Amino acid sequence: MTRLLIDTDPGVDDALAILMAHEHARIEGLCIAAGNVGLVHTERNALKLVEMIGADIPVYSGCPSPLVLPAPGAGFVHGEDGFGDTAYLAPSRAAENEHAAAAIVRMGREHAGELTLVALAPLTNLALALRLDPQLPSRFARLVVMGGAVSGRGNIHLAPVEFNIGFDPEAAHVVFSCWPEFDLIDWEACVRHAMPLARFDGLLAAGDARARFYTAISRKARAFNAARGHGMIAADALAMAVALEPDMVRRAERRHVGIELSGGLTRGATVVDWDLRMGRPANARIVLEVDQMRFETLVAGALGAA
Ligand code: BDR
Ligand code: CA
Repeated sequence: MTRLLIDTDPGVDDALAILMAHEHARIEGLCIAAGNVGLVHTERNALKLVEMIGADIPVYSGCPSPLVLPAPGAGFVHGEDGFGDTAYLAPSRAAENEHAAAAIVRMGREHAGELTLVALAPLTNLALALRLDPQLPSRFARLVVMGGAVSGRGNIHLAPVEFNIGFDPEAAHVVFSCWPEFDLIDWEACVRHAMPLARFDGLLAAGDARARFYTAISRKARAFNAARGHGMIAADALAMAVALEPDMVRRAERRHVGIELSGGLTRGATVVDWDLRMGRPANARIVLEVDQMRFETLVAGALGAA
């Protein structure tokens, strides 16, 4: 069974990814970053989700801000608390007494070569872990990253920039320049693989307690998507699907991807050497297309609607 360490900022689509991982793999830990909303909320949301599924998964709280410059969150998509502002009862359990970056380093060493690391948030914790232990890439079986916009159609106020990278470009630079090869699931692939809202609503109606919880926390995000004529864009769930079933990838390209750190309009952009003109080795397997049916089957399982 696949064993995962997940770095995440829940976040509505993070929650779906975690439910999917819990259904189809073993989660060894959740490392929590600030991003969609502040760390107080992302940590609390992770603890609530773990409690809701009755799992014994350790939660490690991480960095409360990006490495260098402050950045706006995405509460207008996910709800100001990151879980749709449902005023849920506080979780009864607490986070572990270990920083997320330290937990990544420790678990990489304890389970050398065994864990798949899945990064669903700004890369702040992971960048710190890499600075603590430069050998980190050799300690994990794989790294799967949700982030970037590989042809320049992002999702924040800077047009070519995707949220996870734009929130902490310096952290992304550390990871993209130090990790020899990782799977990259970018925002544009996530838009192409959005589920029609009616089909997603059908899964919510057919599912179990997980689906009822998810119906509540995703109401604002679904309305946000519907108002823009999108389907349900579940970015982190798509990345998780690729982490769980790498052979569901139908089309991918290996290329060098760098991070733009300056630029008033482009800070945080993912710069892809599509035409092999930079002479740098490929660091990313850029996932361009997956088997949509297999993706949706994993989503259904996550919600108890399979
Ligand atoms: C990414 O940013 C966040 O809002 C989502 O949780 C996802 O990780 C999409 O750009
Ligand atoms: Ca996320």
